[in-house]
Amino acid sequence: MLKSGSIKRVRKLIGEQKAKGHTIGLVPTMGAFHKGHLSLIEKAAKECDFVVVSIFVNPAQFAPTEDYHIYPRDLNRDCRLAEESGTDLVFAPSAETIYPNGYSTYMEIGEIANILEGKVRPSHFRGVTTIVAKLFNIVQPDKAYFGQKDAQQLAIITKMVRELNYPIKVIPCPIVRDENGIALSSRHKYLTPPQMKKAIGIYISLKEGVKLIRSGISDFGSVRSLIIDMLNKYGLKRIDYVSFNKWDSLEPALKPDGKVLISLAVKLGNTRLIDNIIINPDTGL
Ligand code: PAJ
Repeated sequence: MLKSGSIKRVRKLIGEQKAKGHTIGLVPTMGAFHKGHLSLIEKAAKECDFVVVSIFVNPAQFAPTEDYHIYPRDLNRDCRLAEESGTDLVFAPSAETIYPNGYSTYMEIGEIANILEGKVRPSHFRGVTTIVAKLFNIVQPDKAYFGQKDAQQLAIITKMVRELNYPIKVIPCPIVRDENGIALSSRHKYLTPPQMKKAIGIYISLKEGVKLIRSGISDFGSVRSLIIDMLNKYGLKRIDYVSFNKWDSLEPALKPDGKVLISLAVKLGNTRLIDNIIINPDTGL
């Protein structure tokens, strides 16, 4: 496996692959790998000739009050796991390489970035889309892999690729969960065992919501209240939102009609956890 922090060298290595007619897959990450990240890399390795994994804790997507400085970093471990999962090249640039002194160019996304996560984290998606656009320009992949775990991020990147005419296929990847159904997250490192126990209630509550919709309750307002009751029962009382949105425009959804994203964010201590399910009540999925 190759490793580099240099844009020039990465461009050269990828150019060589493209000259051979090889397809390029990109998996953008911030490192601190768990099985969720590795599932994206494994999928890319199955579908592409040459897999590039970027590891970069992107300062532009963290607010000053957030965890940028304490975000878990372990490049050696990540490189070992990346290699085992089928990575050909790790691109791990420094912050100075990506945002040199005086850097001032950012993406403007519109309303889809101001709701849900964007409401609580106002400049988050501006930072996400800026780094992803830069990675797309540096790597020029055929396919780019994103987890449904961050459903709003996936919807925003899909929209960005469409609207800016990137010749890149965005590949959505399913959420990887632990044995208790908790969606894997690098931020679980911040949680105590009792907090992890409470976190089990997140997916159970989401699934309860899905069950209610399938049983014929079509008013999402009532389903939302029942999900909140269930979260409370698990001791999850600090709820940022429980939301129903059309997939993938993220317009508000009031009743079952096409694909619906049910998403939520809760706080445990200083940590925010997010999770979601996409359902299609029309087809029973
Ligand atoms: P990061 O949180 O490191 O996640 C990298 C990718 O892994 C994202 O596409 C995310 O959705 C996916 N992922 C995380 N947990 C997952 C899980 N349990 N199951 C499946 N996929 C999972 O998301 C980011 O980094 C950044 O915002 C980034 C896109 C790299 C831009 O900086």
